[in-house]
Amino acid sequence: MPRPTQITIDLQALRNNARLARQRAEGKKIMAAVKADAYGHGLAVCATTLAPFVDAFATAFCEEAKALHALALDRPVLVLEGPFDLEDWETIIATDSWAVLHSEEQLTSLESLDRPRQEKLRNNIWLKVDTGMHRLGVAPNAVASLLTRLARIGIVAPTIISHLGNGEDAADPLTQGQVKTWQALVDALELPKSLLNSAGFSQRLSTDCDWHRLGYMLYGGSSVPKATPARLHPVMTLTSQVMALRHIPTGDVVGYGGRWKAQRDSVIATVAVGYGDGYPRTANDGTPVLINGVICPLVGRVSMDMITVDVTDHDSVTVGSPVQLWGDQLSVDRVASHAQTIGYELLTRLPNRLPRLLSGDP
Ligand SMILES: Cc1ncc(COP(=O)(O)O)c(C=O)c1O
Repeated sequence: MPRPTQITIDLQALRNNARLARQRAEGKKIMAAVKADAYGHGLAVCATTLAPFVDAFATAFCEEAKALHALALDRPVLVLEGPFDLEDWETIIATDSWAVLHSEEQLTSLESLDRPRQEKLRNNIWLKVDTGMHRLGVAPNAVASLLTRLARIGIVAPTIISHLGNGEDAADPLTQGQVKTWQALVDALELPKSLLNSAGFSQRLSTDCDWHRLGYMLYGGSSVPKATPARLHPVMTLTSQVMALRHIPTGDVVGYGGRWKAQRDSVIATVAVGYGDGYPRTANDGTPVLINGVICPLVGRVSMDMITVDVTDHDSVTVGSPVQLWGDQLSVDRVASHAQTIGYELLTRLPNRLPRLLSGDP
């Protein structure tokens, strides 16, 4: 019998979220971020499901764009990190992908290509501007001269792109500064433009965008709970079962290092999931675990293949009781907040050992 620990990917939820994003975009274009294997949900199945609802896809690098191109979904693909070398330019041209140009070095390598190659890239370049996150992008005051250099090689209408460093917090001076810099930049240019990710989009941090680049919200995650539409559904659910139950007396400890000590006579459920399954080892005592539909607190350190949960107050729990670690009834963001991380990280680091089921009319 296979171990009862698995991931379910709900494609109906994915469609629902994409439809909702489409409505809220009010006619602006949507690019679905499907990097990192569609945020851990499976590139092929998610991109195929999303294609009818979105105008383009975004990947981090060229190899991901190649994999997407092979699916023949008839949607452009933007490579967010742009080319690393000349071979990447060949991939971008061969797959007719769009490339972010975030540095002068990349522009120099583009200038070194021959004319026919530059001609093929004429409508495929996105110029990234650093509006304050200081990760990638050219300085705002360098934009005019870079546009002149691009025009010299026949690229006259690149899309202008920037990225928010803390779009979750609209009041953060970083966010406000970035939006202001963005506004000044795009006011002076008549070019297509793209600023917002899910957090910025759900709070409508700028209306001056032709493209919205959405990832997390399409998978049903929320980094801004108060601005998240209630109708957004988690796409991934991670489930398991109770594999053992034991009664322990007051004062006994549970798990590696004896981190948790029983303050009363307790009933402990051992669940078949651990950090080897992508469940975070940093999860603290009290991390919510849903057993038989009831939230119970994780107690003791997460092991490679198991966790331990205090079910003293829940008589109905037995060996075989169903467990949800995160998903449609327990938000991954809530679990992540108990493990000093974010839902994005939990979703994108699930190992191959976990079986995957598709639901929602694949
Ligand atoms: C440049 C860029 N744009 C858009 C996104 C999508 O962000 P989110 O998943 O928060 O919507 C990302 C994701 O990290 C990104 O790096």
